[in-house]
Amino acid sequence: MTNIDTLGGTVHGGTLYGIGVGPGDVRYLTLRAAALVGAVDVVAFFAKQGMQGNARRIVDPLMASGRVEMRLEYPVTNEIPAESAAYQCQISAFYEKSSREVASLLREGKSIGLLSEGDPFFYGSFMHMWRRLETDFPVEVVPGVTGMSGCWTRANVPITWGNDTLAVLPGTLAEEQLIERLRLTDAAVIMKVGRNLGKVRRAVEAAGLLSRALYVERGTMADERILPLADCRSEHGAYFAMILIPGQGRRL
Ligand SMILES: C[S@@+](CC[C@H](N)C(=O)[O-])C[C@H]1O[C@@H](n2cnc3c(N)ncnc32)[C@H](O)[C@@H]1O
Repeated sequence: MTNIDTLGGTVHGGTLYGIGVGPGDVRYLTLRAAALVGAVDVVAFFAKQGMQGNARRIVDPLMASGRVEMRLEYPVTNEIPAESAAYQCQISAFYEKSSREVASLLREGKSIGLLSEGDPFFYGSFMHMWRRLETDFPVEVVPGVTGMSGCWTRANVPITWGNDTLAVLPGTLAEEQLIERLRLTDAAVIMKVGRNLGKVRRAVEAAGLLSRALYVERGTMADERILPLADCRSEHGAYFAMILIPGQGRRL
């Protein structure tokens, strides 16, 4: 029988690993992700000022003492609008600086595991590092269970049936755009709810979907909350929150 540790595979010096750590519950890490968290020379992660960092918190049970960590702290997050020039300028300078720091460790032959909540290639900050480093260094991306997959599982709602189409929409879209897209789809996931909750709720109601919509906050985490969107009266939700609108396609 193959030993479970050997299924995690090997680690190479000088390689950047984008490690998908799943939606929140550490048990949803893949074997490869868990093995890398334990074996890379440096565990890197993004964090908001004053916070532990969500991806870092997810892997806490896997972190032995003495591991070398690299905290990449965002200069801004939701204090200013992501569309503003000030935000874009500060964030792109931050990714430039962070990728230079990572590059210098990779040149020294270190293996670096950059944690990414959910899947690294699905709205992940990791992608901004990947595009700066992937031409010069070996990079391996380890897929993760997405937040939306964790959320619809915990909410116990199959999301698409038969020929249902699924739209994944950022809650940052304008209200009219949200309504337009929602009218065209059978099922929907609305990400990045946070400060957009009031607008998202109005759009879902205008598209005639409020009775089917669920609000899921911190899905699979210890403090998870799941409730009908119709019961969410606040203008603001949690940052880690999404709306699920399950499809109603063919049941056999
Ligand atoms: C920057 S995106 C990162 C997505 C992540 N890479 C993934 O694969 O799900 C952050 C958004 O994902 C959603 N999200 C991710 N995980 C979640 C969870 N466990 N519960 C609720 N929402 C989650 C929220 O809408 C949040 O605003």
